[in-house]
Amino acid sequence: MPEEEFEVTPWDVEGNVDYHRLIEKFGTEKVDEELKNRIVENAGENHLYLKRDFIFSHRDMDKVLEDYEEGEDFFLYTGIGPSGKMHIGHIISFYITKWIQQQFDVNVYIQVTDDEKHWDRGMSFEEIEENAEHNIREIAAVGFDPDKTFIFRNREYMGNMYDAAVKIAGKINNSTAQSVFGFEGSTNIGMNFWPAIQCLPTFFEDKRCLIPAAIDQDPYWRIQRDIAEKFGHEKTAAIHSKFIPALTGPEGKMSSSKPKTAIMLDDSAEEIEEKVKKYAFSGGGDTLEEHRKEGADLSVDVSYLWLHSLLLEDDERMKEIAEKYSSGEMLTGEIKQVLIDELTEFLSEHQERKENADRLVEKMMYEGELAQRMWDKKITL
Ligand code: TYM
Repeated sequence: MPEEEFEVTPWDVEGNVDYHRLIEKFGTEKVDEELKNRIVENAGENHLYLKRDFIFSHRDMDKVLEDYEEGEDFFLYTGIGPSGKMHIGHIISFYITKWIQQQFDVNVYIQVTDDEKHWDRGMSFEEIEENAEHNIREIAAVGFDPDKTFIFRNREYMGNMYDAAVKIAGKINNSTAQSVFGFEGSTNIGMNFWPAIQCLPTFFEDKRCLIPAAIDQDPYWRIQRDIAEKFGHEKTAAIHSKFIPALTGPEGKMSSSKPKTAIMLDDSAEEIEEKVKKYAFSGGGDTLEEHRKEGADLSVDVSYLWLHSLLLEDDERMKEIAEKYSSGEMLTGEIKQVLIDELTEFLSEHQERKENADRLVEKMMYEGELAQRMWDKKITL
């Protein structure tokens, strides 16, 4: 692939993603200053991911706010594919979703795709179930409101959803699925059906749905937006995040199957330190002399990118690091240490909340107010 080329699909991210071009390619809209201010005004506070343009693109977020300003609320939907243990990239959209739930006091639906990963990767049910159990505990540790959040596994909840799945599948044809997802003759027919199921939770309530996720999931929302009005529903809205780059460099995305590239949510302080020191790609000079003279290239330096997009709240300190590191005054070892400290703090807080996650899992899956209502209800269209 030539250097300037990149590819983003729900299954793979390759190359150096040019996010401006991706907005054009996918036909989404940029999150501009005006929209950011409007989100902050309605939310009552700003958020790091918004401030630092980690959330960079959207569909109909302006309409979500317009409704909200007129007293009409919305609901949130996001999900996880239980293909392994979760890395830090996987949890970010859940933290965004939690923040929106908290600031706007709305319901959240979380789909655990224990069907997709069999079709997509040929994983056994046993393996998927083990992963799903881990993943659900990670998600519970994020801190959602347990009475306003419903986490469901597709194979378990499908009885309540199947009527809607049948109707949605009836509106998506093969040429759409093939052109949006690139399915081929050898793709199993489970994958052909899959887009209907990933779109389904956008119809859980008779309100506008807002989906926080990285932009790789957007092709599904394109399909939903083509068919929603046929069912008398609003087109779903979405906000898109960038990808957290792999530790080993800004190309592609982090992957659980390549542990060197990822910080896993259950990594210990020692593992974080070791991985960052060993693998975090540096934009600094090759020798001390060169670094002092030329400074670091921030656009490829993973420690800088992670701190800037995700971890370091303090704007003054961030600015100082950018200045000192790009001028060569600060060394790679020093910025790596800042990253190690910030990551360790973020993950140790997350891990502490996970210790007490069992009760929350019960509530969000079965016993909380929203969960009980969802188990009593059939989704119809
Ligand atoms: P999955 O399991 O591949 O990814 C889960 C969520 O994590 C996001 N993500 C990332 N975000 C930032 N940086 C990264 N490096 C990174 N890697 C993954 C994904 O965009 C996603 O939001 N089919 C879906 C599961 C799903 C879903 C949904 C996701 C079902 N319904 C609704 C989002 C919204 C999947 O396999 O995601």
